[in-house]
Amino acid sequence: MRPLVATIDLAAIVHNYQLAKRCAPGRQAFAVVKANAYGHGVREVVSALYSEADGFAVASLEEAAEVRAMHDAARILLLEGCFSADELPMAAHLGLDLVVQGAEQLEALLAAELTRPLNVWLKLDSGMHRLGLSPETVRQCFPRLRSAPQVAELNLLSHFACADERGHSLTEVQLECFLELLDLDFDQRSLANSAALLMIPAAHMDWIRPGIMLYGATPFADLAATELGLRPAMSLSAQLIAVREVAPGESVGYGAGWVAERPSRIGTVSCGYADGYPRHAPAGTPLWIGG
Ligand SMILES: Cc1ncc(COP(=O)(O)O)c(C=O)c1O
Repeated sequence: MRPLVATIDLAAIVHNYQLAKRCAPGRQAFAVVKANAYGHGVREVVSALYSEADGFAVASLEEAAEVRAMHDAARILLLEGCFSADELPMAAHLGLDLVVQGAEQLEALLAAELTRPLNVWLKLDSGMHRLGLSPETVRQCFPRLRSAPQVAELNLLSHFACADERGHSLTEVQLECFLELLDLDFDQRSLANSAALLMIPAAHMDWIRPGIMLYGATPFADLAATELGLRPAMSLSAQLIAVREVAPGESVGYGAGWVAERPSRIGTVSCGYADGYPRHAPAGTPLWIGG
């Protein structure tokens, strides 16, 4: 077997979730576990957060079904909504919290015959300009949804584009856009990803949505995870499969990119991009050898 192991520290993920909750006292949290819990293993992460998390957020019906099979009570937020109208009955069967991010999804929901009403999260395009309804559309459709039999809670959600760049002017614009709709009587509101819940208390609303911080990574380029009190969840360990000496002037590796300036000892591990090692990790990326 290849001597390369990714180890996931589930206690660190619980610690990071608790830290997110402490940042936003009294608020509830959807632990974002989409994309196989950012590659950390959705089954293991949901098990670790089973009694801790108020809810989980996923990106597809398949992911939602996997979480539901493990947790029959948790709120599960489908972040991009249903990809087609024929997914709606399954969303109702699974009892999901459903994002509605566009006009087509809105009409499909209002035309659907569902076995039970769903908690609906209208996604507002507050400035990211990828998904979401305009503020005017949210206002227009609010009364229709309020009285629709398909809708249980009617909630508002939006997503920041630049909250990880502290002081970015778009963040303020997005927050204002969200606040301006709060004269509408939504049941629940949610705006903050990791960066916003760490730095912008005014964005905490009712539900926070921590993703990357759960896994111990900082969202900020200029602030380290340890400074935020986060614990890294994943470590990658390997054995050296070869050690050799090279003389000054000899080059090592692809592109002969590194040239020894003095007699040097070169260790090689069996690990590449296909293992998830980032191609953009520069020469000089630190690692530990033998402690
Ligand atoms: C709608 C939504 N909310 C929350 C998150 C979590 O964001 P982060 O990983 O920056 O905390 C994501 C992740 O992409 C998302 O799409």
